[in-house]
Amino acid sequence: MWHKIDLKTKHSIMKERILVTGGTGYIGSHTVVELQNAGYDVVIIDNLSNSSADVVDNIEKVSGIRPAFEKLDCLDFEGLDAMFSKYSGIKAIIHFAASKAVGESVQKPLKYYRNNLVSLINLLELMPKHGVEGIVFSSSCTVYGQPDVLPVTESAPIKKAESPYGNTKQINEEIIRDTIASGVPINAILLRYFNPIGAHPSALLGELPNGVPQNLVPYITQTAIGIREKLSVFGDDYNTPDGSCIRDFINVVDLAKAHVVAISRILDRKQKEKVEVFNIGTGRGLSVLELIKAFETSTGVKLNYQIVGRRAGDIEKVWADPSLANNELGWKAETPIEDTLLSAWKWQLKLRERGIQ
Ligand code: WQD
Repeated sequence: MWHKIDLKTKHSIMKERILVTGGTGYIGSHTVVELQNAGYDVVIIDNLSNSSADVVDNIEKVSGIRPAFEKLDCLDFEGLDAMFSKYSGIKAIIHFAASKAVGESVQKPLKYYRNNLVSLINLLELMPKHGVEGIVFSSSCTVYGQPDVLPVTESAPIKKAESPYGNTKQINEEIIRDTIASGVPINAILLRYFNPIGAHPSALLGELPNGVPQNLVPYITQTAIGIREKLSVFGDDYNTPDGSCIRDFINVVDLAKAHVVAISRILDRKQKEKVEVFNIGTGRGLSVLELIKAFETSTGVKLNYQIVGRRAGDIEKVWADPSLANNELGWKAETPIEDTLLSAWKWQLKLRERGIQ
């Protein structure tokens, strides 16, 4: 167990051991750093299907602490069981490991249903056996589809998913609820993210999409650095002020901090219900064209883009009402969008410097 010395009281704080699945991924790696900063002892498991092990080195450079790391697939039940025995005393899990490309999920639905559902089922089945008290689940605002009312609150109706990926998030939430309702002695907090963007201020951690980026901000930074010739803006004929889609873009470090607060809430037994849901967004909607302008202003880089047709499956506009997370969790997204976009740009420059992209 890892001890954090509280400099004020000189007491050693026995901090709990947390398992982070998908911990070498984009949001996972930033969350590991924030958990370590809070004094938790972190174990990462990741199958490295969409990330690389050198992220563990970079986490250590940022936090000064090397987390335990096991290359492991959450589909491997026996492997998970052995890992829980090897790293005894894991008190809670943050579950990021999942396939997450919306478009790919339409082409390969069975890959998404098997990976995203069975991985969670394996973890839930093993938690009671190994004394794991709680799970923080990485959910998504896609469960809302196109909300009827904006900003969207946690009580908004869940709509039919637009993709198998979005459907796996809805089904995962139900699996967690049904498991806990059956009497399994665990608690859960479901965090519904909006659009995570940006990178760690150190430029040592960030988003590293495989191949052509599907998401907006990595495509912007790759265009700005010259990897991509131009950005295609998917539609400017939506019913929005400038015609382009609106999203709630949230800084990845702010998002990571929400996970630390959720873990503490579970372990400090402050939850009001055994399953709680929180929207993790800024509460501010920004259009695609506004984001492009903000990128150009904050970086001084002119972006080459063209307006093209709509992308299938895109919803028109969504942004969070984050007041429940603000009031209940005491968490609030604070980083200005300009700083976030600058962090994404610095990360892209660092990748170029390291010869990675
Ligand atoms: C944002 C906006 C595009 C690329 C998805 C998932 C969500 C989460 C984040 C996993 C849209 C426009 C994009 C481009 C563009 N995924 N766009 N040109 O679709 O809101 O959310 O990714 O955790 O669950 O649903 O994010 O970044 O793909 O798109 O114009 O080259 O940018 O049309 O309006 P999205 P995105």
